[in-house]
Amino acid sequence: MCGIVGYIGDQQAESILLTGLKRLEYRGYDSAGLAIVGDDGLVVEKRKGKVDELRSAVNGQPLRGTLGVGHTRWATHGPPTDENAHPHTSVTGEFALVHNGIIENHGVIRQRLSEKGYTFESDTDTEVLVHLIDDIRAETDLSLEEAIRQALTQVVGTYGIAVVSSVNDKLIAARKGSPLILGIGDGEYFIGSDAAPLVEHTRQVVYLSDGEIVTVSRSGYEVKTVENVPLEKEVHELEWDLGEIEKSGYDHFMLKEIMEQPTSLSDSMRGRLLPEDPRVVLGGLHTVWDQLVDADRIIIAACGTSWHSALVGEYLIESFARIPVEVEYASEFRYRNPILRDGDVVVVISQSGETADTLAAVREARKKGVLCLGICNVVGSTIARETDAGVYLHAGPEIGVASTKAFTAQVTVLAMIALKLAENRTLSTGEMAHNLHALASIPDKVDEVLDMNDEIREMASVYRYASNFLYLGRGYNFPVALEGALKLKEISYIHAEGYPAAEMKHGPIALIDRFMPVVFIAMKDSTYDKVVSNIEEVVARDGSVIAITDEGNGELDKLCEYVLRIPKTEEFLSPLLTVVPLQLLSYHIAVMRGCHVDQPRNLAKSVTVE
Ligand code: G6P
Repeated sequence: MCGIVGYIGDQQAESILLTGLKRLEYRGYDSAGLAIVGDDGLVVEKRKGKVDELRSAVNGQPLRGTLGVGHTRWATHGPPTDENAHPHTSVTGEFALVHNGIIENHGVIRQRLSEKGYTFESDTDTEVLVHLIDDIRAETDLSLEEAIRQALTQVVGTYGIAVVSSVNDKLIAARKGSPLILGIGDGEYFIGSDAAPLVEHTRQVVYLSDGEIVTVSRSGYEVKTVENVPLEKEVHELEWDLGEIEKSGYDHFMLKEIMEQPTSLSDSMRGRLLPEDPRVVLGGLHTVWDQLVDADRIIIAACGTSWHSALVGEYLIESFARIPVEVEYASEFRYRNPILRDGDVVVVISQSGETADTLAAVREARKKGVLCLGICNVVGSTIARETDAGVYLHAGPEIGVASTKAFTAQVTVLAMIALKLAENRTLSTGEMAHNLHALASIPDKVDEVLDMNDEIREMASVYRYASNFLYLGRGYNFPVALEGALKLKEISYIHAEGYPAAEMKHGPIALIDRFMPVVFIAMKDSTYDKVVSNIEEVVARDGSVIAITDEGNGELDKLCEYVLRIPKTEEFLSPLLTVVPLQLLSYHIAVMRGCHVDQPRNLAKSVTVE
């Protein structure tokens, strides 16, 4: 949600910043801009539209200079326009600032500054912060860094900011609630909202925490708290490879990430799943395992696709560990003053590890003194650092805005947790070995499902013009129905709803006619017969049914327009297979409708505002 990049060093900043913005574009893509300090002082170029439009604008007239910041925006205050694009420049033209987050008290400050004669060129909350810093500079003899610190103590809300100035040859960045990373190169430094713009330059990074400000000169950097207390920060090594954040020949990141799932799932299980022993090893939970085993209740909080995997987790943990589980929308959790008691454990799930609502749930749990665990993909992310312990997905970077491989990795990690909790509890050694072998065979089975890509593309061409879809499933596949509907909505803008299959009778059935495709997940499991009855009910009302079922099952052919047959697996693992054709279906429909698959309208990959 808004991407920030910054550079100071010996190289020309422009191309580093533009490439960095391109890599960050999944965080926001409605406008983009650069501010570069060079021989001509501070020069700003910004444009409504994607980073490529900014690139074309500067192509004719390169911005020369070795210090600069860039921004790609996801609008919060004010529509996407040239004026509202970042960077925003001070009245004096002394400095330019980029911002990710929301200044909640911008109205009061704007009013105060207007009364003092400041005029505003944009509708953004960010410009308020710029003028506030300017005002502090005008009224005091504080340095720019000190004025920024003072301004930050006056604003309420969230920010990741980066500032460059024509007077001090420094890059200054600060964060509260919106992520920022400092990259340390050889005589050069980088700032990024995440690791994506940094990986091709350096692996050495410092993660800024909330309330910290870094001042970077050409010879070094200094991190302090906003209250001016100097800090020693640990330097971390990045794990990502450049190849992992490029499309590698695929048309879209989403397709690449769908196709990567056999590998990402193996990576999630590597060293953790030991079917021969038979046991699961989860080093990240080692220190808290006794507390988790003895939990009276587990509350899982997440957003979006991660919330769907949390629902699968509820079924898994309740069934294997017999511990009661509640699943919460992270965005609702803290606002209803949740009852958390001794014996409760909160688990949050987040691909990015930066989702503002999920982070707020972590803080709520910790404030109430409850153990809080994280399941994150991005190593070193804020949620990973603020939780007491956790498990990384190791699924590799996910760039496509619509989450795919993170979902299957999350379900895999949840299955491993559930099975480990079942040790000495509900499963005999033989059953444990059987289940672990079944999980270990999933990557190969996902590979088989991916082989159905052409068949699914053909099916997509039939349904590409539909305006509504219904997705129905039961048990473990009810969350998959929700996820299938979300995928379609997100990237093809077709209205789609997911329901537990039997709930159809309580409303959605009224929508069914011959124009309504209904996707049923009808695996031959404990709910199969009931689901077949639901299919009959739809067919009786002229609905057009697509079914996903087990290989070898011909029973549905006479009822359904399309039947996709996927490999058999244990019921509890079926979401890992059934979701894959739904990911491909939505991908192909979106491509056929000419939608921008990796950057769907209005969405962002990492939602760092509430
Ligand atoms: C955004 C993304 C979704 C994602 C959700 C939660 O809405 O577009 O794909 O599922 O955030 O993100 P997280 O990083 O916390 O899993």
